[in-house]
Amino acid sequence: MTKKLYIKTYGCQMNVYDSERMSDVLAAQGFSSTEVAEDADLVILNTCHIREKAAEKVYSDLGRLRAAGGPDGRLIAVGGCVAQAEGAEIRARAPFVDIVFGPQTYHRLADMVERATRGQAVVETDFPTEAKFDHLPGATPGRHGHTAFVAVQEGCDKFCTFCVVPYTRGAEYSRPAQAILDEIRALASQGVREVTLLGQNVNAYHGAAPAAGGGAGGAGPDGDWTLARLSRAIAAIDGIARIRYTTSHPRDMGGDLILAHRDVPELMPYLHLPVQSGSDRVLKAMNRKHTVADYLKVIDRLRAVRPDMAMSGDFIVGFPGETDADFEATLQLVERVDYASAYSFKYSPRPGTPAADLGDQVPEDVKSERLHRLQDLLSAQQRGFNARMVGRRLPVLLERPGRHAGQMVGRSPYMQAVVVEAPADAAGRMVEVDIDAVNSFSLNGRIAGGEWSPRPLYPASPAVAATPVAGSGL
Ligand code: 5AD
Ligand code: SF4
Repeated sequence: MTKKLYIKTYGCQMNVYDSERMSDVLAAQGFSSTEVAEDADLVILNTCHIREKAAEKVYSDLGRLRAAGGPDGRLIAVGGCVAQAEGAEIRARAPFVDIVFGPQTYHRLADMVERATRGQAVVETDFPTEAKFDHLPGATPGRHGHTAFVAVQEGCDKFCTFCVVPYTRGAEYSRPAQAILDEIRALASQGVREVTLLGQNVNAYHGAAPAAGGGAGGAGPDGDWTLARLSRAIAAIDGIARIRYTTSHPRDMGGDLILAHRDVPELMPYLHLPVQSGSDRVLKAMNRKHTVADYLKVIDRLRAVRPDMAMSGDFIVGFPGETDADFEATLQLVERVDYASAYSFKYSPRPGTPAADLGDQVPEDVKSERLHRLQDLLSAQQRGFNARMVGRRLPVLLERPGRHAGQMVGRSPYMQAVVVEAPADAAGRMVEVDIDAVNSFSLNGRIAGGEWSPRPLYPASPAVAATPVAGSGL
């Protein structure tokens, strides 16, 4: 009899990827996924520790799960970053939790489930010496539509003073290029056309180059690969039409990566590049190791090679010691960059991080007021950005049926949902769309041309195109 698995994912895209890989691991043990928590023999909460709210939600969800009940012998597991940070304390607050496991141990889930079934309390929050990626099965066929996440890098050595990531995800690690290329080739053969390369510091990627001749493992003669080099190789994989990567750090935006945005048309002209604050004083206190000018210079260089480059970012308001003048500087930076979209948060003191112990914490009402003002400005910019799409021709990757019969929804290069009239079997096709209208959550348009590709799909394209993007109408 197959057992049922329910996973709830909190937080970032890396967690979404991890949850998919957890179900791949457990599929090999006879688990199939369910959307109904009460039916599940195994419930996993894949948690996020980045801000207090996200972390506390786990405990209220655990309480609800317990009250709702489930099949006899049901197991409850808490994975992800709260598990890593709080470990055995989770069992103290919620003793009915059977398994606690961190983000670097889920390749051992089968064994953990087996031990928990025998009644053992399982807590696995170490950072194993073996790399989890070497022990994961391939993606379950059919899991993905036409877009997929692929982890290429994990962890962080930067230690921004507000952030838990270096503690929950551990030290920076880059997967060997060959393993990534193999994974993406397999995904492409299953119909995936767009990959988002994931990492907490994805542009710090420095994985072992493929061995000469393309064999697995080992650093190649030219040393490690950068993200730019990796992107060029991914772009050459048949079927891959789009590459995105997230999240980047301004300090790691190397010259070769900037030039790749000119030379590799598959790289989308849309970059998430968090800055956190527009005040050099605050950036210093955050240990960001870059200034406002450094950040703006990166964006100017990107826009010089890809004038259509749209920006996304992350902001924290109310970092300890942030004055009105510091906050005004953040607004000025936002005005200067003109974001296509952005995420902004009130500073949340996290246990174990240096900033949590700083004096001069900003009062909650000041944080709320600043967040409001910042978000008003960012949403106005986003609305303006979307409105400017009307009248433009955008390449769209069609992904799924729309709400009404005969409609399909796809994504623009800028992640905007685009609704067009198209047959359902057009999913996975890249089309050019003339944008007619903007709604709150989507764009509407008409298909102007058939299969669109940054370069012809077949026959296989050469490794690197020398010329800037052509024919995209951008
Ligand atoms: N408080 C508020 N926001 C935070 N972030 C990270 N740590 C904190 C914190 N302690 C935000 C940053 C980061 C994003 C993923 O979450 O903006 O880029
Ligand atoms: Fe956190 Fe800074 Fe590392 Fe990003 S770079 S994960 S914000 S410590």
